[in-house]
Amino acid sequence: MTNTILEAKNLTKKFGDIKAVDSISFAIDKGEVFGIVGPNGAGKTTTIKILTTLLPPTSGEAFAGGYNVVKFPSKVRRIIGYVPQLLSADGTLSGYENLLMFAKLYDIPKKEREKRISESLHFMGLEASADKLVKSYSGGMIRRLEIAQSVLHRPAILFLDEPTIGLDPVAREAVWEYVKVIAQHGTTVLMTTHYLEEADAMCSRIAIMIRGRIAAIDSPLNLKLSVGDKNISLNKVFESYIDKSIDSEESGNYKDVSRTRRTAKRLG
Ligand SMILES: Nc1ncnc2c1ncn2[C@@H]1O[C@H](COP(=O)(O)OP(=O)(O)OP(=O)(O)O)[C@@H](O)[C@H]1O
Ligand SMILES: [Mg+2]
Repeated sequence: MTNTILEAKNLTKKFGDIKAVDSISFAIDKGEVFGIVGPNGAGKTTTIKILTTLLPPTSGEAFAGGYNVVKFPSKVRRIIGYVPQLLSADGTLSGYENLLMFAKLYDIPKKEREKRISESLHFMGLEASADKLVKSYSGGMIRRLEIAQSVLHRPAILFLDEPTIGLDPVAREAVWEYVKVIAQHGTTVLMTTHYLEEADAMCSRIAIMIRGRIAAIDSPLNLKLSVGDKNISLNKVFESYIDKSIDSEESGNYKDVSRTRRTAKRLG
């Protein structure tokens, strides 16, 4: 029996001529904290949008909890939580009101709502600020509220797109502590981040995504070993894969140029 809870098979997304996601495949096991890292524009957010049913793929397939994300989007939406890269909390409402809105959105039964909301406020350390307007929150508090919103319905899979972007180190640390606890409760997490030390500490496996493709996918330790040294930082591993990708692109260009030249010569 397979333990896979999230799967992508040759997933591709084109925007005009741009292949934002270029035939990627992976399978994530139940209980994993899986990271996607990669430079700006690598296709991380696009991948998450496809997996969360918000964007149709151009080709390929994806499954969440066994459901095809294109064919059964409402089934998928019931078992996932999503914290987008851009802000998703409403600044003009209080923390409590934001949570109430999501509790309604997720169809949490009325008699359960108050309990779930107060549990999540407590869990995310937001009890004292529950009645304050979100626009008065710090960045870290907003992120914690958004995570609280996204797990109110106790999803099996949680998607976090850059959950700590723009936060100071202390606030970042706090967010990761909460994510760890959510994962310990059995929720599978797929996250993206630009903070590679954090990915190293948090993730069971990491996919390095470059220009729409997965350049490598493995545990942090095996990724380090793949470039020859288990003691180097994940930053160095990342740089090494970026260099390789640039090299292959250059040789690709070179090949193209020499092919064009050969053709020109033949024709000339
Ligand atoms: N709606 C869209 N229309 C056209 N192009 C898009 C659209 N969304 C994304 N792209 C392009 O697809 C590519 C991948 O973008 P994506 O947002 O997935 O990258 P990312 O890895 O999340 O980057 P970042 O680290 O900056 O968040 C980029 O070239 C981007 O400009
Ligand atoms: Mg992104």
